[in-house]
Amino acid sequence: MNKTCSYGILGIGSCLPEKILTNFDWEKMVDTTDEWITKRTGISERRVLEKNEPGHEIGVKAAKRALEDAGLNAEDLDLIIVATETPDYLTPSMSCLIQNGIGAKKAAAFDLNAACSGFIYSMTVAGQFIKTGMYKHILVVGCESLTKAMDWNDRNTCVLFGDGAGAAVLGPVEEGYGVLNTCIGAVGEMGHNITLPCCYVNEAEAAKRQGEDKRVFWMDGSEVFKFAVKIMEYGTNKALEEIGLKLDDVKLIVPHQANIRILEGAAKRLGVTSDKVFSNIQKYGNISSASIPVGLNDAYRGGKINKGDNLVLVGFGGGLTWGSAVIKWSK
Ligand code: UT7
Repeated sequence: MNKTCSYGILGIGSCLPEKILTNFDWEKMVDTTDEWITKRTGISERRVLEKNEPGHEIGVKAAKRALEDAGLNAEDLDLIIVATETPDYLTPSMSCLIQNGIGAKKAAAFDLNAACSGFIYSMTVAGQFIKTGMYKHILVVGCESLTKAMDWNDRNTCVLFGDGAGAAVLGPVEEGYGVLNTCIGAVGEMGHNITLPCCYVNEAEAAKRQGEDKRVFWMDGSEVFKFAVKIMEYGTNKALEEIGLKLDDVKLIVPHQANIRILEGAAKRLGVTSDKVFSNIQKYGNISSASIPVGLNDAYRGGKINKGDNLVLVGFGGGLTWGSAVIKWSK
């Protein structure tokens, strides 16, 4: 199957909440230290939505910035896909809230939940619509309010996550540029390692998954850690091999930011130096589906990406899911 196609990122943007929570702030709230968090995760601070600040509002701001970067109007959009595991509502979807917020009156809209792999899943789905000619311009947003889903007493998880949104406008690009390949996968048998029950799931079911009936985020960090390091290597190599590229052809890997030690472990397995693996985890912590588009936006605006550079995006997360993509930057 020839997967080479000519759709790519026309514009990119992000929005992080203004409120900053540092490791020293966490020291005052749970039994933890700045030293533990920094050494074990690489995180120094994260952004946090205020209690009365809905998550979709940062999605709207990120979307507007991506549209501006693309030089397009909201009415040019045919479809909006929002990757999220922390929607404000199950209905209306985050994509409908964002459609309304930006005034994309002609766009269809739906949400997609593949946890931290959601941006790559959404990009893959968007690509099918563009390749078949059904739609021309698709907005893909990763938008998360993870701190609202955390147990703020569980030091194993609460210090790791932050809130944020990243958005990209996808559309046709010059032949040979853009998204050259994507790979997505799921390992449902490992799903019990990251759980966030819906508000209405019955108590027995929630307890079965988390050991107790709590409607909060729960994770077996070390199981996910082992999965993450292996799947980052596998996903990166698979996405490149399928189109005959090598790691030497790649300028930058922009991975999901879950733990600096995962990034270092994956870099070692892949045999690349750490400067080839983009990281901004220190500033934002883990922002799930927003992590990759926010990273891509930071790398692009920070001058680390130029037209013609080959990039690898790679992520993993709840489900468990994973995804990887190769992009020849077209801007
Ligand atoms: O986005 C996808 C989903 N998330 C991930 O990919 C996360 C993957 N996992 C990880 O990043 C790491 O496994 C963690 C950061 C979650 C944990 O790091 P670790 O090195 O695997 O630590 P651990 O779970 O083995 O715990 C070591 C010790 C434990 O104490 P004992 O039992 O040895 O006395 C923990 O209770 O560290 C303790 N600990 C903490 N101590 C201070 C756990 N969290 C904290 C904390 N502050 N915040």
